[in-house]
Amino acid sequence: MITTETIKITTVENSKVSELDFGNIPLGRTFTDHMFICDYHDGQWNNPRVEPLSHIPTHPAAMALHYGQAIFEGMKATVSEDGIPMLFRAQKNAARLNFSARRMGMPEFPEDLFVEGLKTLVNVERNWIPPQDGSALYLRPFMYADEPFIGMRAATSFKFLIIASPAGPFFSKRIKLWAEKKYIRAAEGGTGEAKAAGNYAAAIRPTEIAKSKGYDQVLWLDANEHKYIQEVGTMNIFFKIGGKFITPNLDGAILDGITRMSVVDVLEDKGFEVTQRPITIDEIKEASDNGTLEEAFGTGTAVGIAYIQEIGWGDETIHVSDESPVGLDVNDTLNAIKTGKIEDKFNWMTQVQ
Ligand SMILES: Cc1ncc(COP(=O)(O)O)c(C=O)c1O
Repeated sequence: MITTETIKITTVENSKVSELDFGNIPLGRTFTDHMFICDYHDGQWNNPRVEPLSHIPTHPAAMALHYGQAIFEGMKATVSEDGIPMLFRAQKNAARLNFSARRMGMPEFPEDLFVEGLKTLVNVERNWIPPQDGSALYLRPFMYADEPFIGMRAATSFKFLIIASPAGPFFSKRIKLWAEKKYIRAAEGGTGEAKAAGNYAAAIRPTEIAKSKGYDQVLWLDANEHKYIQEVGTMNIFFKIGGKFITPNLDGAILDGITRMSVVDVLEDKGFEVTQRPITIDEIKEASDNGTLEEAFGTGTAVGIAYIQEIGWGDETIHVSDESPVGLDVNDTLNAIKTGKIEDKFNWMTQVQ
């Protein structure tokens, strides 16, 4: 039985952090000095350790490469004004990873060890957390099947890792979405609510097509009728109509976003009504036409809140007003909680001492 105390730590002799220009961090391309890694075989997780980041030897028959047993998480570590690294709702990511693991026939990872692994890695990499407002150390926990086997069944050996990548402040311009009528992301009974690598693979081609038409991201519609709004690229979606917020309900096809659940709490705390329910694209078009669509934004770990300018839908364009930016205020509140500038009244932050 492994415990959180058994994480072995091997550090590099010379950190590469001195080579990083914190004022100009290339997004998603810079990685810290270390990784957390743990192996699963014989029905157990073994040997949790933090060690220098390196390539992982992989057998060409590793099952993740062929059958896609691969899941991941995305989260951020920030630093408080007095220099203490902090994690945002880490327990939620631990639970969501295990939700994805169950759906994909993979072993669960002990949730305490998930959080302890994050804390240990973030502690070792604390100099890599960019201090500027809106910046963070992006953390990518993931699990994949590394058993060499040709045949369709659940693998028996897996790896769980956490890698980290510093991310500069993200100033999102207002984005344009393409409501997709041909391709779908997820259907009832599929893997849409798991954070499975294959969901993203299937989204790449439709996203490239949307980009070639001048849009930033795909707005996914339901698989049966292409009528109900699901989510956006790597974000959940909110609309404000006539002073009230709505967001699609968790119907089994969309991801239970941790930013989404936090935005619901912050909006309600600010006195707004938020309803989670099926939302049709016709309803959004009608609200835009009659002037009641007051705002629309995506929510996700990478960007926080991304404002939507317009939605292309076949030959039509749904315009979104740029007044009444309640979402911006919510984003400021979330950032202030993440950097300890305001009280963490929801008890969301974990300090890394
Ligand atoms: C498909 C999808 N939906 C929504 C989200 C937003 O989730 P979260 O707020 O937990 O980052 C993400 C990002 O992880 C995503 O990949």
